[in-house]
Amino acid sequence: MTNTLKTSTRSDIASFRALDIMRQVHDLEDQGVDIRKMGAGQPHVGAPQKALDYAASMITKDPRQGYTEAIGMITLRQRIAQYYTDYYGTMAKAENICVTAGSSSAFILTFLAAFDAGDRVAICAPTYPAYRNILKSLNIEVVEIETRSADHYQPTAELLEHCGQNFDGLIINSPSNPSGTMIDDAELEKICNWCKDKGVRLISDEAYHGITYERKAATALQYSDQVIILNTFSKYFAMTGWRLGWTVLPDDLKDPVKKLSENLFVSPPTISQHLAYKIFDHVSDLDVYVQGYAENRAIVLEELPKIGIENFTAAHGAFYIYADIHALSNDSEAFCKHALDEAKVSITPGTDFDLNRGSGTIRICYADSQENIIEACQRLKNWSSSVR
Ligand SMILES: Cc1ncc(COP(=O)(O)O)c(C=O)c1O
Repeated sequence: MTNTLKTSTRSDIASFRALDIMRQVHDLEDQGVDIRKMGAGQPHVGAPQKALDYAASMITKDPRQGYTEAIGMITLRQRIAQYYTDYYGTMAKAENICVTAGSSSAFILTFLAAFDAGDRVAICAPTYPAYRNILKSLNIEVVEIETRSADHYQPTAELLEHCGQNFDGLIINSPSNPSGTMIDDAELEKICNWCKDKGVRLISDEAYHGITYERKAATALQYSDQVIILNTFSKYFAMTGWRLGWTVLPDDLKDPVKKLSENLFVSPPTISQHLAYKIFDHVSDLDVYVQGYAENRAIVLEELPKIGIENFTAAHGAFYIYADIHALSNDSEAFCKHALDEAKVSITPGTDFDLNRGSGTIRICYADSQENIIEACQRLKNWSSSVR
């Protein structure tokens, strides 16, 4: 007789719908089905060739590619610090920067360093779903704050003050996944001050900085020396699969994060750090990618009403639009399934991002090539006119 072994309650979390759909897309593509992708959020282009050539030369120069310092190579940390001066005009010290295996590992490191099991951390729905699931798996209590469409699905200091909840930490994300909307600079400053006054640990996920269409996003580092900044090489820098991100830490978390990263991860990927170091010399190429996203965004914004979707976010950054689909369906899961099966277009249901309201919304990602985005819109138009 075999014993039934237990699985942990902490791993009893929801799966990541966008990644489920990505897997389904890969399966369909393996069967020869021609899919247009508006699901998973990743650039269709890779890092600039010259930066890739440099990384390749580093393999030839040092085939061993051994571990680096757990918090990342000092040369890369200095380069990231320089980027804060160049891009934001803000000081970040290399000694406060920790390079991580994607910003996803930075979540684990910073949540572990800042919170204990039982602490309460607020997220602002609709939100990047991994926050909720990582926090739950660390036995940190998740406080969901519903943002308002009138506030572009972003928190305000006033909403935090009147939400009737107490919490030890708060995660914000501007530009946001899934809405693409941004917190304006004055409001960001108010949120930073509110967190300081209330003793709330603020975590600012700045994963989509660099991909903005009307104005630059301010870093929360400009307004607070207590904030934890998270960022990634996956989005603006187009290095998704190289798995590299970073965090800028307040002084009190430097040592805890260093010890955690030594023990949990030993070191972030070495070859990816070489590529990241060089990529800063090629930001003008990355800005051409952003121009491509801007053109795609304009196409999707024009096409959505023709698909029957009239109500969507004013997406000022990232490569997402969050849209209300009530005119077409009250079941975003079924809607996205049918869009994939029938229109052969992948989209992500809002249930990934908002537990209460997500059945009436979808997230559209427009990071694919312009040709594919045009074709995806055409397919959705043909399909929706047949189901309306
Ligand atoms: C808001 C946000 N933060 C963080 C991540 C994680 O990115 P990575 O682990 O590739 O750095 C993502 C990925 O989609 C995201 O959308």
